[in-house]
Amino acid sequence: MKKFILCLLFFAFLFNVSAQFDANYDESKVPEFKLPDPLKTFNGQKIRNYKKWESKRRPELLNFFTENMFGEVPGDLEIASVDILEESNNALNGKAVRKQVDLVFKNRGKTLDFTILIYLPKTEERVPLFVGYNFYGNHTITEDVEVIISEAWANNNPSFGIINNQLTEQSRGVRTNRWCVDKIIEAGFGLAVIYYGEVDPDKDDFSDGIHPLLYIDDQQQPAADEWGAIGAWSWGLSRAMDYFEQDEAIDESRVVVFGHSRLGKTALWAGASDERFAGVISNESGCGGAALSKRRFGETLWRINNRFPHWFCKNFRNYRKNEEALPVDQHELIALIAPRPVYIASAEEDRWSDPKGEFLGALYATPVYELYGKKGIEQTEMPAVNYPIQNTVAYHIRTGEHDVTEFDWEQYIKWASEFIK
Ligand code: GCU
Repeated sequence: MKKFILCLLFFAFLFNVSAQFDANYDESKVPEFKLPDPLKTFNGQKIRNYKKWESKRRPELLNFFTENMFGEVPGDLEIASVDILEESNNALNGKAVRKQVDLVFKNRGKTLDFTILIYLPKTEERVPLFVGYNFYGNHTITEDVEVIISEAWANNNPSFGIINNQLTEQSRGVRTNRWCVDKIIEAGFGLAVIYYGEVDPDKDDFSDGIHPLLYIDDQQQPAADEWGAIGAWSWGLSRAMDYFEQDEAIDESRVVVFGHSRLGKTALWAGASDERFAGVISNESGCGGAALSKRRFGETLWRINNRFPHWFCKNFRNYRKNEEALPVDQHELIALIAPRPVYIASAEEDRWSDPKGEFLGALYATPVYELYGKKGIEQTEMPAVNYPIQNTVAYHIRTGEHDVTEFDWEQYIKWASEFIK
């Protein structure tokens, strides 16, 4: 009998766990929820103009996202030195200038550096720029043989020739499809990319990457309200921005931060926490990005915090399987970017990222943009596939899978040409 009960309990446990692992893709099973009003403070005060938004509501939201989701950066760390590793006036068949710039940081006897690969159109004028991280090294975004291969730790990916966590020559150019360098340059924009693993390797280990440079005494990992990996990657983008401010060829007032997926979550947080970014493009950022958490569609807070415990600060775990207790949702993360332009994008087959949740994130951020007289998303229904809405808040859903495609970049370039002035 005892055995039987134990057996029953064991199966009940397994059933419970597997039920939690089954992502919901059924719209009728989305729970009822009340979305927090971006224009009402936590203690119920109505926000009627952008001054009150800036003095009251924006700071308390920023604070909440900092302490409970992405974590605080526990100190200042300035660039110790800028090393130009390589430079050419004759890149991309003579159409562009290429620079490989290494930023070095030092603290507590430790050093960290990361390399920014920059392509700029050849012109006398200072150029606007897209900046973003890549998943497998700067040399993957182009066939250009001069691009230096990073020695930082990488996730294995045998199809790209990445084994033993080391990037290799074999993966040169494997991600050209995700970065339309030629189109970007032709449109008069520069492109700057960084391998995210140089700032913080994407694994649940806080002994490497940038974190240890800001530990105190014998600290081994960030405190519950201190930065996780997304906070660290976002910090890296801000340091890249520090460099752009020094580079005469770049117009630092027109830098758009771009990211896909986990790096799209990072782009949103970078834009929300650093107002120097002139705009944000978040491609299929899903859970913890543009998608509303309270919908629990596709990836949930439970799943993301268990599978990637290092991405957010520890405090965020309080909300896994407890979305209803969240006093914020992701539309308010997007709203923190207001009045600067923001582009949210989805893909039809990428249900894990919850396209509808991403659309609603953009839609419900709109009232904050309207305080500034800016146009956000004005229709409550999702647009048809491949029909972008391009206002200060922009959105599209395209055909296909979780990826960055030429179609995506064509829209981003067109939109940025109009809204990043
Ligand atoms: C996983 C993860 C997502 C993330 C994605 C990516 O699918 O669950 O949250 O966006 O990886 O970064 O590619």
